This record gives sequence, structure tokens and C-alpha cells, in this order.
Amino acid sequence: MCTGTGAIALAIKEENPLIHVACSDVSEDALNLAKENAKLNNLSINFILSDLFENINETYDILISNPPYISSEEYMGLDKDLFKEPKLALVGGTLGYEYYEKIIKQAREKIKRMIFFEIGYDQGNIVKEILEKYKYKDIKIYKDLEGFDRFVSACI
Ligand SMILES: C[S@@+](CC[C@H](N)C(=O)[O-])C[C@H]1O[C@@H](n2cnc3c(N)ncnc32)[C@H](O)[C@@H]1O
Repeated sequence: MCTGTGAIALAIKEENPLIHVACSDVSEDALNLAKENAKLNNLSINFILSDLFENINETYDILISNPPYISSEEYMGLDKDLFKEPKLALVGGTLGYEYYEKIIKQAREKIKRMIFFEIGYDQGNIVKEILEKYKYKDIKIYKDLEGFDRFVSACI
């Protein structure tokens, strides 16, 4: 979900050819880019144009998402180079972590086993709290190579 260019989904399919992978994004441009990248890499992946879960009709074992997670305030202070990226890909809302709650809440109906999120370096605790609020189990926060919180996993 929020697949963008499809980098995460493509890498997963490449490493695990036997699993069924579906990518979704609200941006048709992003999804077309992900499709092109899948074609270039000979990977068979499904693509779904969807505002979060709106057009997701199947259930899945695992959800992986790198949603927009920068706050509106942080956005204003970003390096100018990042303004080349679509704002839709970066800003998660006034607080930055709004997408996590939306996805975490709705995932309970569509996802059977686990969810994984990329997170901002300072969002580990807040995302953990949201996961606890919706009764997820076995919540883990992982660090990147610089030692910053970078992704979380949780079981349904
Ligand atoms: C941080 S980018 C993902 C980048 C991706 N990891 C990559 O490698 O390209 C966030 C993505 O979320 C998508 N997005 C934003 N709002 C969305 C929504 N409501 N539903 C689905 N996707 C959304 C954006 O279009 C963007 O592609």
C-alpha cells in the first residue's frame, strides 16, 4: 500500500517469486511507474489504483507500506531538492503520522497476519501506541543502519 515506484514490492517479489504480490497507490502516475519497473524486471505483480483500502477487495496475509509520514510543518523546512517529489508522496498530515492510524484501523478487516511500515526516525513510539490501541500483537521497532527507528512490524 502507498507503493510509489514499487521499489519495496518489486524487491520482495524478486526475492520470493512464489508469493502473490499486489501493489496499490492513489496516484495513477506512481502506479504506472511501478508497472513499468515490474515489466523491466520481468516480475508478475498485480496493480490496484486505490485510495488506501477503498478498492482493495481481497484479503492478504501481509501488508507492507511506506506511506507519506512528514508533518506539514516539517515539509516547509525540507531541503529544496525534496520539493521535486510530489507533496502527496511526503506529507502525512498536520502531525505526519495520520496515515498510520487510517491504515492500522482498516487493516484489521483485510489483513490476516502481519503489517510492516516504514516510519520517520521519531515516530516509533507513536506508531506503537496506535498499534496497541487497535490490539495488534508482537509489535517490534527496527533501526536503520544509522541507528534511527526506521520500520515497525506487528501481528494481527
Ligand atoms: C513515501 S511514498 C512511497 C515511496 C515508495 N517506497 C517508493 O519506493 O517509491 C508514498 C506514496 O503514497 C502514495 N499515497 C499518498 N496518499 C495515498 C492514499 N490515500 N492512498 C494510497 N496511496 C497514497 C503516494 O502517491 C506515494 O506514491
